[in-house]
Amino acid sequence: MCGIVGYVGSGAPGGRPQGVVMSGLARLEYRGYDSAGIAVVTEDTERVAMSKKAGKLVNLEKELAERPLAPGTAAIGHTRWATHGAPTDANAHPHLAAGGRIAIIHNGIIENFAALRAELLDEGVEFLSETDTEVAGHLLAREVDRGLSLADAMRAITRRLEGAFTLLAVDAREPRSVVGARRNSPLVIGLGEGENFLGSDVVAFIEHTRDALELHQDEVVEITPDGVTITDIRGLVVEREPYHVDWDASAAQKGGFATFMEKEIHDQPTAVADTLRGRIDEHGRLQLDGGMIHETILNSIDKIIVVACGTAAYAGLVGRYAIEHWCRIPVEVELAHEFRYRDPVVSVRTLVVAISQSGETMDTIMAVRHAQQQGAPVIAIVNSQGSTIAREADAVLYTRAGPEIAVASTKAFLAQITAVYLLGIYLAELRGNKFPDEIESLLDQLDAIPAKIQRVLDTSEPIRELARTMANERTVLFLGRHVGCPVALEGALKLKELAYIHAEGFAAGELKHGPIALVEEGQPVFIVLPSPRGRESLHSKVISNVQEVRARGARTFVIAEEGDKEAENYAEQVFYVPSAPVLMTPLLSVVPLQLFALELAAAKGYDVDQPRNLAKSVTVE
Ligand code: F6R
Repeated sequence: MCGIVGYVGSGAPGGRPQGVVMSGLARLEYRGYDSAGIAVVTEDTERVAMSKKAGKLVNLEKELAERPLAPGTAAIGHTRWATHGAPTDANAHPHLAAGGRIAIIHNGIIENFAALRAELLDEGVEFLSETDTEVAGHLLAREVDRGLSLADAMRAITRRLEGAFTLLAVDAREPRSVVGARRNSPLVIGLGEGENFLGSDVVAFIEHTRDALELHQDEVVEITPDGVTITDIRGLVVEREPYHVDWDASAAQKGGFATFMEKEIHDQPTAVADTLRGRIDEHGRLQLDGGMIHETILNSIDKIIVVACGTAAYAGLVGRYAIEHWCRIPVEVELAHEFRYRDPVVSVRTLVVAISQSGETMDTIMAVRHAQQQGAPVIAIVNSQGSTIAREADAVLYTRAGPEIAVASTKAFLAQITAVYLLGIYLAELRGNKFPDEIESLLDQLDAIPAKIQRVLDTSEPIRELARTMANERTVLFLGRHVGCPVALEGALKLKELAYIHAEGFAAGELKHGPIALVEEGQPVFIVLPSPRGRESLHSKVISNVQEVRARGARTFVIAEEGDKEAENYAEQVFYVPSAPVLMTPLLSVVPLQLFALELAAAKGYDVDQPRNLAKSVTVE
């Protein structure tokens, strides 16, 4: 949600600030937005130059081509996902204040904006938009008019704002400076030579630098061409070590694929392999990426609660089967937004595992904070380095999926399952639930998965072909049992969000308790069939479920293990995936369903990377 970019350089006024910011905005398009804008600090010390437009970035580019902005030394740019006020030109960011001297952009929601707006209206301030952001701009102008520098003014106003925000501002009278602040919303700093950058995430500036600095809660940053100054809200300078981003700009490009989503589905063997790489030391101990939770605490936990949303929550559901089986610890999986409102039973003996690709999902951040307030240790399984959840958790295990640009999550899902499994294996070892040779065998099973995913990808044409014939379907059902159940849920979610087709995933056993009423002649139903080599009863139970829907006229499409010829008796078409131990199968069986959704959405002519109404990182509750 909302992309933010800031740039300042030491060169003579020129086109670089605009160029850097516009390319940063293009890279942040994946976050989801409905208008875009840019402000450039030029040689005019009374007014910054600004341009903004409703709709996609191309509208802004057109506007800039028709009405170019003057050369500049610094710039800020924004892609807006509307919250307060419709996605119009007027509500697009930046917003100007102090007669055009100051420009401000914002991600988040200022919760006390109504009271602040009333206060400013009383003072005679005129508003040009319906946004909460404009309030922050006028507050900033008031402080600057009192003689404060832009950075001091930013600190002063953040003390008055409530809610979630990342703010960036420029002042025409400080042409070599961009100031930012953050609370409950992301902002990272990129370190260049003779130039510096700000962005909602490192993707915004990765083509210019891989050296970055985190900005923590309630901190203010000022970037100039030669330096970065971080202060806390009181103005005390904070020293911070930079970190090096472990992927480069090419990882955030399509790499020859038509869409980011297709590329990311094909990245999955690498995402799983990288997440596994070098994780377990010679004593069988899991190598975390940051922080730690003492082994005595982990030994004393009596419950695990996974908090996450959407696809990440489905990764947690898959993980539950493995952790309970390997560690004999009860695992609950809770949608993060429901968690804290139901007064959950959490104690120092509850291990909370927060799963998030972005590490910035507000619902999950709030669940983490709630758990920590109850004294629970929190481990984060996160993809984005330095993100809020990674920082605030007591320990972090990064999924090394690389940047996930397509809005719909694919490779992060597989990497999340892999990371939860690593955590489960580690706990099993630590708590003495498994012997070393069993641990080794589980790790070997995981090591074999990337090559098997590659085989699924290499043999995916039949499911893609099927997808192209189904563009007119109105409803598709997905069934699964045991670990196949979250796979069915994920298959349905992918289809909904990409192809805008009504889709439901069900536990196969639940069907006869109600949902089977939906089945009529010709209804497509996908079934994730367990291996016949596993618990025999599971395979035959799901076969019975296939027969139940088939008897009522459904068209049945089955994801089955290679060699399961029996499946062909009950299916219009079977899509085979390589054989694997039961708990490893979700890492394979979900891949054909991802490809099905991708191909069907593409057949309908939809934008698979940026589906309507969705944002990549949901930074509001
Ligand atoms: C679905 C999807 C979402 C995210 C959810 C959590 O394809 O991408 O359901 O999984 O919004 O996001 P993160 O993992 O960033 O916390």
